[in-house]
Amino acid sequence: MLVVGARPQFIKSAPVIREMLSNHREIDLSIIHSGQHYDREMSEIFFRELEIPRPLVNLHAGSGSHAAQTATIMNRLEHFMLTEEPNLVAVPGDTNTTLAAALAAAKLGIPVAHIEAGLRSGDILMPEEINRKLTDHCSTLLFAPTKTAIRNLKREGLGKSAYLTGDTMVDALHIVMPAVLEREKTVLRRYGVQTRGYVLVTLHRPSNVDDSNRLREIQLALQKVAESSRVVFAVHPRTRERLVKMRTLENLTGTGVIVTKPLSYLETLSFLRNSSCLVTDSGGMQKESFLLQVPCITVRSTTEWPETLEGGANRLVANPQIIPTAVSDIMAHKAFRERIRPSKRPFGDGYASEKIVRIIRKTFRGSA
Ligand code: UD1
Repeated sequence: MLVVGARPQFIKSAPVIREMLSNHREIDLSIIHSGQHYDREMSEIFFRELEIPRPLVNLHAGSGSHAAQTATIMNRLEHFMLTEEPNLVAVPGDTNTTLAAALAAAKLGIPVAHIEAGLRSGDILMPEEINRKLTDHCSTLLFAPTKTAIRNLKREGLGKSAYLTGDTMVDALHIVMPAVLEREKTVLRRYGVQTRGYVLVTLHRPSNVDDSNRLREIQLALQKVAESSRVVFAVHPRTRERLVKMRTLENLTGTGVIVTKPLSYLETLSFLRNSSCLVTDSGGMQKESFLLQVPCITVRSTTEWPETLEGGANRLVANPQIIPTAVSDIMAHKAFRERIRPSKRPFGDGYASEKIVRIIRKTFRGSA
């Protein structure tokens, strides 16, 4: 049973699902959607673009406080775990859906496999950090994307269950790249921007957007960036909600920032690949920008992907006032792109899903 529910989980799971369906038909796979993300552009589009089959069920958990959301998912999921009797519950990433599914399964005595295990930012106030730690500690199989993640797991006494597989997001990127190359020109034309002629922005972390003073500071910084470069800001529903409440969304568009709804996976990669710089607080996008050799400014003080910091490819900028200077510095550095070395492949070789499915198969040979 594979449990997903939020946008990044659809991406992380798609190559694993594809591997099972193409090369391991003997595995009886049930996909469950928690319903944590429910808007068309946060969920359905990803299923379509990544060719993920329809889930067995959508639990429609929706939004709520952390406790309410996690509890609703656990409560509704338990019923399907009891009727489906899975041999294994697989959970990708670090969202509330990840933790809810891992906890529900562990308490029923069902083995859990964590895809993207061992990541640590060191910031325990981050909801995802709590989800990662607890999920790792109730999992039987830990699929680590990087050597750093393996070290983190060993440090917490979890080394025996850990496997270095690489990152399934690299697999996903490889799968969709031909479609991105085919479509990117049309995407850019639709928004009236040109290759290397704009800065791409995505922000959704509670630590950046929930506090209106901080969000206002970030907004002012983006407006300043927009004085010297075009800015494409793909606004997450959480961020939109806050900006609407503060009545400042119009200020952004008024200053030349192109504000878009949440972008699909293919649109995101099209925009990212052609941008001159990314400003983000997303974990996944720090990595994607590294892989696509786009310089990145991360609006946070920590990262769970320290490999991206190598050679200055990604810079942590916690103070919003510094964002405009950081952006112009990173773009002025002509040799920058050569300094990003994805050839070292810190996130694996694009075969993480094959390895993951092979290990699952080996562990459960004979059962199912
Ligand atoms: C979640 C994950 C985060 C991940 C992010 C990707 C947790 C704790 N966080 O954060 O790790 O990086 O997804 O997007 O699980 N909303 C909509 N439509 C939707 C979904 C959400 O409008 O389809 C609104 C909700 O009303 C809520 C806000 O977005 O106000 C937050 O949604 P939620 O899923 O709780 O957390 P994210 O911030 O998306």
